[in-house]
Amino acid sequence: MSFIRGDGLRKVYDPGGKAVEALHNVNFIIEKGEFVSILGPSGCGKSTLLMMCAGLEEISDGLLMVAGAPMTGPRGDVGIMFQDPTLLPWKTVIENVLFPARIARVPIEPVRERAHALLRSVGLHAFEGHRPHELSGGMRQRVSICRALVNDPSILLMDEPFSALDAITRDQMNVLLLDLWQQQLARTALFITHSIREAVLLSDRIFVMTRRPATIVQNVVVPFSRPRSPELTEDVEFNRLCGHLRSMIEDSHVG
Ligand SMILES: Nc1ncnc2c1ncn2[C@@H]1O[C@H](COP(=O)(O)OP(=O)(O)OP(=O)(O)O)[C@@H](O)[C@H]1O
Ligand SMILES: [Mg+2]
Repeated sequence: MSFIRGDGLRKVYDPGGKAVEALHNVNFIIEKGEFVSILGPSGCGKSTLLMMCAGLEEISDGLLMVAGAPMTGPRGDVGIMFQDPTLLPWKTVIENVLFPARIARVPIEPVRERAHALLRSVGLHAFEGHRPHELSGGMRQRVSICRALVNDPSILLMDEPFSALDAITRDQMNVLLLDLWQQQLARTALFITHSIREAVLLSDRIFVMTRRPATIVQNVVVPFSRPRSPELTEDVEFNRLCGHLRSMIEDSHVG
């Protein structure tokens, strides 16, 4: 069953009467439980598409369906992560994780249990009472994952969540997300990245977008079975697929 479906999506920004067409005729289907990544050149419209899927960006043309209903505005069942963890500096780790539940005004005690469990699963149980400035960049992004998941969202949207981290921490975050996904999450995810290897390791499918006005030109199935481990990145087939994607992306950036 298609869970998220875009038909002829278009986005025109019109700042001060100077129209910029970001997306042009974007068509895709994401099944429930799939992990899909988007690769594409900078400024092509990836974040725009992700924000549309969150119900936070207006659609200029076309139809976006989520769980069988047209997208009309922000949805409560969406968790989001950005490149910047955007934690509230005056709140403790546990209160940052609980923040979406407080906004949604749901009873906090059952959610608190979930928040504890999430923080334990990312190795931050001992830091619940700390404030964000006492944490490393990778730890802050782990808090941000827990916050995105605390309301048990059916859709997880991630916009370059690990791009600001150093290479080793980024690899560790990939493994963490892979493990979380395989052990307990398995919901529907849309993940934007500029890293081909990260996309191949984490995803079931990869959408390749063109330069602006962007459309999805390739829909690549990642054939590796789950559970996956980081050793997959040393596999010949893994590297062959990365090379194939690289040349596809170079082609799609031309012209
Ligand atoms: N609020 C806005 N008003 C006007 N133009 C915008 C707005 N948001 C994005 N754009 C334009 O739309 C285009 C797509 O932007 P978007 O942020 O979606 O790209 P992106 O693929 O996420 O880029 P990057 O890889 O650099 O994050 C860009 O040309 C950008 O300047
Ligand atoms: Mg972006």
